[in-house]
Amino acid sequence: MPGAIYAEGLVKTFGDVRALDGVDLDVPEGTVLGLLGPNGAGKTTTVRVLTTLLQPDRGRAVVAGIDVLKHPNEVRRSIGLSGQFAAVDEYLTGRENLQMVGRLYQMKARAAKARTAELLERFNLADAADRPAKTYSGGMRRRLDLAAALVVSPPVMFMDEPTTGLDPRNRQQLWGIIQELVAGGTTLLLTTQYLEEADHLAHDIAVVDHGKVIARGTSDQLKARTGGERVEVVVHERDRIASAREVLAGFGKGETSVEEHTRKLTVPVSGGAKLLAEVIRELDGRGIEIDDIGLRRPTLDDVFISLTGHGAERDAEQDAAPHDGDGGHAGAAAARSRAAEGREAARKETAR
Ligand SMILES: Nc1ncnc2c1ncn2[C@@H]1O[C@H](COP(=O)(O)OP(=O)(O)OP(=O)(O)O)[C@@H](O)[C@H]1O
Ligand SMILES: [Mg+2]
Repeated sequence: MPGAIYAEGLVKTFGDVRALDGVDLDVPEGTVLGLLGPNGAGKTTTVRVLTTLLQPDRGRAVVAGIDVLKHPNEVRRSIGLSGQFAAVDEYLTGRENLQMVGRLYQMKARAAKARTAELLERFNLADAADRPAKTYSGGMRRRLDLAAALVVSPPVMFMDEPTTGLDPRNRQQLWGIIQELVAGGTTLLLTTQYLEEADHLAHDIAVVDHGKVIARGTSDQLKARTGGERVEVVVHERDRIASAREVLAGFGKGETSVEEHTRKLTVPVSGGAKLLAEVIRELDGRGIEIDDIGLRRPTLDDVFISLTGHGAERDAEQDAAPHDGDGGHAGAAAARSRAAEGREAARKETAR
């Protein structure tokens, strides 16, 4: 039996861009799937197909037991969505925005009011509740949008980069809210650029690149795939990098990588703390002063880089890639995407 979110062979092309190239997903009820991938991988497109905002060219999707292509309206009643770009009504206050969502979902006025007050409190918006949303900061809008997705508690939730632009405290709080939701039985698909977030929240992770799921597993399984532990050393003086490299080569099980500007050397090892002690003795014996040394397990970052060949750092141009239908971000986003198109055209011109 398929899970609460199920997708099979989703394909979507935009002109000559193959945004989805056969995406398969299966998210068991009551669990969190973290969808990870570099900019332009197809995360938002996947979310838009699953939430009925976009028709795929091919494939099948079932959400909350309902066929997404055959019964989109029913699906909409069973899901909550917080898109990559906050979609709030600028002219309504925070409170009015949330109450409006309650009314759209046919909540009783009193219930909508109570739920609104509770959410404003939880998302640290109580003080700004009666100001129009257009006066909100980026992080406040994002929080209001997330609160709006939680007015009714749908069985299946989609959050596209829910914590992008949130400060650390608000991010932590949102993590808490998400954990409570899931403990209450909600199934969640979230996309994120913060690998730490997927590590923390997701039961299962799907790594997407070029419109395909290229790896799948728990955070630990993915880390195990990338290989074992490594020793990381920061030497005090730049001109000792070469000698430190020699030392590490003697202990390493693979190539030593060097980051010149931070004076950091990293080498894969096996042997744990005992080996680390030996490395320290050897460096000390050669009079190589160190600022920092440690043994570290692969992070999701390492997994990501080894799977996709690049990191998860945001790319300004991809960020501004044109998206439609994600809601109230028209002005600035459109300007940014026009700028990006301009640059793209200029680049093509040069390439010719
Ligand atoms: N409406 C559209 N028209 C044309 N191309 C699109 C459209 N939507 C998405 N694309 C393209 O499809 C590809 C996948 O985009 P998508 O938004 O799904 O990526 P993403 O993984 O969400 O990236 P990000 O991390 O930047 O949010 C990109 O190359 C993008 O430019
Ligand atoms: Mg996206």
